[in-house]
This record gives sequence, C-alpha cells and structure tokens, in this order.
Amino acid sequence: MNSVKNVLLGVTGGIAAYRAPELVRLLRKSGIGVRVAMTKNAELFVTPMTLETVSERKVWRAGWQEQENPLIHLTESNDYDLALIAPATANFIGKLAGGIADDLLSTLVLALACPVYVAPAMNPRMYSNRAVVDNLDILKKRGFIVIPPEDGETACGEVGEGRLPQLPKLVEIVRHGLGLKSDLEGVKIVVTAGRTEEPLDPVRYLSNRSSGKMGLAIAAAAQGRGAEVILIHGIMSKRIPENIKSMPVRTAREMYSAVSNAFAGCDALVMTAAVADYRPAEIAPNKIKKKEGRRTIELTENPDILASMGQKKTKQIVIGFAAETENAVNNGRKKLLEKNADLICVNDVSRLNIGFDSDFNELTFVTKQSVRQSGKLAKRILAEKVLDIFVELTSEVKRTATGGNE
Ligand code: C5P
Repeated sequence: MNSVKNVLLGVTGGIAAYRAPELVRLLRKSGIGVRVAMTKNAELFVTPMTLETVSERKVWRAGWQEQENPLIHLTESNDYDLALIAPATANFIGKLAGGIADDLLSTLVLALACPVYVAPAMNPRMYSNRAVVDNLDILKKRGFIVIPPEDGETACGEVGEGRLPQLPKLVEIVRHGLGLKSDLEGVKIVVTAGRTEEPLDPVRYLSNRSSGKMGLAIAAAAQGRGAEVILIHGIMSKRIPENIKSMPVRTAREMYSAVSNAFAGCDALVMTAAVADYRPAEIAPNKIKKKEGRRTIELTENPDILASMGQKKTKQIVIGFAAETENAVNNGRKKLLEKNADLICVNDVSRLNIGFDSDFNELTFVTKQSVRQSGKLAKRILAEKVLDIFVELTSEVKRTATGGNE
C-alpha cells in the first residue's frame, strides 16, 4: 500500500449508498487508501463485489462469519487515520448514539482510535425528526464530526435537507481532516520509476536491482497532493495501483521517447528510474550459444534522459536521483550542473538496509542554493520531502520572474 493515509468508509443502507463506489474511486484517486465496511442493508443498494473492485481491498460485511479473523473489529481499530460513514442512515446514527454494536461496522466504530465523520443522508422529514436531531447532537458532543447534508431534491422526490453532499466536497472534507496538502493542484508531473532492461539476445538482458518503490511513492504522493501524474516505468518489483496513470517501457531508449513526448506539456520531471547507461551494441537474433573461453560484450551508450530534458527545459523543474557510494554532496553538485537539473537527490547505495528494494532510504538533497540531509525515513515520507522542495523551487522561479515583487 503506497497511500499516505488510510480511511475506513462505512456504507449504510440508504439510497445514497449507490454513490459509494464513486466516492471510493475519488478518495483513491486523491492518494488515500480505502477500506469499505458495509451494513447488511447497504448490500441492497450496492454490492460488496463492486466496492471490493474499486477499493482493491476486501470489504468488511455485516457478519463476522464472512471474515477470517473473529477479532477483526479490534485488530483493525488502529489501522485507520479517519473513518467516514457515508451515507449514514437514521438507523445507523441511532445505533451510534446508543452505543449499539450489533454488526461489524457498528462494533468497529466503537473500537476505532481515529476521528469519525458522519454524513447523514435520508428523507428531509426523517432528517428533521426530533430523534435524529437529538442523536446527531449526542454524536457531536462525543466528538464525532457531522457533515450536514445538502438541501435539494432527494431520491424520494421530496425537497429539503437530506442529500448526501457532492462527492468532491466529501473528498475535500476527508483530505482536510487528514491534514493532507492540496498544493499541487493543476500541476502536471512526469515521474519515472523502476529499472530498464537492455536485451542481449531473446532471453537475456542487462539490468539492475532497482525496485521502483521510490518513484511509486513520489507518484502516489504527488497525486495525493492534487497533481496530474504520469508514471513512465520500467520493470517494477511492486504492482502499480490502478488509480495511477502509468505507461510501461522496457529499454532506456523506449523510456527516452516516452519522457520526451510527455516533457513539453509538464511542469516537473522526476527521474527516479534506474536507467541503464549502456546497452549491448548488438542484440543477437537467437539465443547466444555457449562456447569455450572468455566472451566480450560490446556496449554502446544510452541517451541520458535527465541531461537531455535538462537541456530542453523551459518552465519545467527537473529532478534527478543519483546513486553514489562516496562523496554524496560533491557528486550531487557535479550532477546538478552536468544535467542542468534543479534538484539532485543523492542516495548512498553503499549502506545496508536502505536504498535498493528497501521501504526506507536516506537522501541528500542538493539544489543550487542548498544541501540538506533527510535522515533515514520511509520512502513515502521522503516522497513528500521531494515534493516540498519542488514547491519551494517553483515559488523561487515565480519570485525571480516577478523580480521578487510577488
Ligand atoms: O549519471 P547517473 O546515471 O548517476 O544519473 C542518475 C540520474 O540520471 C537519475 O535521475 C536517472 O534516472 C537519470 N538517468 C537518465 N538517463 C540515463 C541514466 C540516468 O535519465 N541514461
């Protein structure tokens, strides 16, 4: 799971439950991981399979018999950063107010450690019923956050307060509740990740150990902050979530042409891919046969994608990664100049337990103005730091363009 935050979406049995799959899709598109828990009556409006497909996670259904773990309501209780009950029916609100725990969702809510947001959606007369009003007051007093429904025509044809708010508005409320930034809205970012493969013959190739985790973390984080992301990737050790727009390539030359095509229209290029510097000068049409003695493979240079985009850049911020075994700062500075990049993130690959294939890394961020050490951090946190520096560099460019009068 590459998402920065995890949300439990509780779906209860009102007509607005038909909007839950789209809500899951939008939350995930904004980089949030979603687990759906649904009541028995919600299944009358939307199927668990639909929600399982869009969330790419098993859906928690009403009864424990459907789950493998009988203590799931307790083991799961610390896994979420926020819970949203949408739509919340009058019945479910009543159960929450009364502390009733007679199915998996209501029991899970009692055990949750995170903030719980409740989005009531029902017929306007039901919503203004004293019982519902009092129950919602009880919930508010207990620290639940109640998202008021919208005014308008409800599914039953009556007009009044009771409609589930527009889904983008719900996503915005959740993002705000999670403390997520939306500072990359309207920004187009090309991220490369993974390793390239250079064929030698039909079955052999030259490659490296890069897993693609860092690039994937940057793509997910950028999307989570509102950017439009395209992930151009070589071979990856991790599956790419379906909500990230991606383009697979194999060789450095394929990656070069994909990046060149996307570059003109983007605001930033983040080259995390481990691109092969060389490729076999010739690709044998048939499997190379074993023969006595030494063999030599002639290599020829691949295009340097980062350096080439660095030369072509107009408004784009160009970010590269450098795997070094010594002199991180000096080598980073050298690479910054050679590739005409705006930021080089230097990765000390001589260290054990970080870098290649690890979930952690330690980077030295080198820009024209500064050198900063990240310390050892999870790649998803490092991804946020890279993006913070991108935002900083963008505002510096704007400041320079306006002569510092912004
Ligand atoms: O020069 P070096 O290979 O160490 O530079 C690493 C950086 O350059 C990385 O950002 C990598 O994605 C990029 N690169 C490239 N094209 C190559 C080799 C590396 O864009 N052929």
